[in-house]
Amino acid sequence: MGAIFQIRNLAKLNWSTDANVRSKYLFSQIFAEISEPTRIAMIGASGQGKSTLLRILALLDTPDEGDLLVNGKSFQHIHARQWRMAVTYVAQQAVMLPGSIEDNLRTVSRLHGRPYDESLATELLKQLGLDYLDLAKVAKDCSGGEKQRISLIRSLLLRPEILLLDEITASLDINSTQKVEALLLDWHKQEGTTFIWVTHDLEQARRISNRTWMMDKGGLQEYSSDTFFNEPVADLARRFVGPTEGSLQL
Ligand SMILES: Nc1ncnc2c1ncn2[C@@H]1O[C@H](COP(=O)(O)OP(=O)(O)O)[C@@H](O)[C@H]1O
Ligand SMILES: [Mg+2]
Repeated sequence: MGAIFQIRNLAKLNWSTDANVRSKYLFSQIFAEISEPTRIAMIGASGQGKSTLLRILALLDTPDEGDLLVNGKSFQHIHARQWRMAVTYVAQQAVMLPGSIEDNLRTVSRLHGRPYDESLATELLKQLGLDYLDLAKVAKDCSGGEKQRISLIRSLLLRPEILLLDEITASLDINSTQKVEALLLDWHKQEGTTFIWVTHDLEQARRISNRTWMMDKGGLQEYSSDTFFNEPVADLARRFVGPTEGSLQL
């Protein structure tokens, strides 16, 4: 069996034309291979390009060099919509579609030609502590934390092979964060879904991952999380996430 996902020599050019200040690339020579369902934590200081990389992996942005393959097939030969059913991005700032919460949950399935799994939606809402919500409520009127969890459920209903999670618990309280972590760990186990989860919270990274991807100086290094988190988290934070991260929780 071939790899589930391959990133081959991926690069994104830097917008900045000031050669003195920045390198030509935002990032370059990114290689990775996922050959079995994996839980990946992606860390790195702000502005390194973590969100840009995730968006490229979901074809919401274009790579300037390199190739991406899902189950051995290059993105160049797959329709973007079909690609995004397999590789789904969950944004930090959840965007609700017009209409009710239920419309939001149904629309994504409809757009992708999938039947709407209502009992799964109900179960996921319960697991994320959202069962109090009236599904007829206008989705845009929900709180930031509610929107974030609704958008995660919307993506899970597609049953993607790879979930790209961009700081999805950043606006959640500890209780909701724990529910999201438990749900995703369970989902990974049950469904064999791989996730790549960007987080500034190194304790969270340790809890949820078995591999760690570190973005630094325009490159990506991969570690076993067991090895990476051998060091005290505070030292790792100083070295890799930077002292300016407001959202870092130690
Ligand atoms: N081609 C590019 N695409 C996206 N961002 C770019 C690009 N070139 C330079 N940048 C800059 O690089 C940074 C990338 O930000 P982002 O991907 O959000 O990083 P992170 O998620 O690690 O904080 C931004 O400051 C952006 O202005
Ligand atoms: Mg980001």
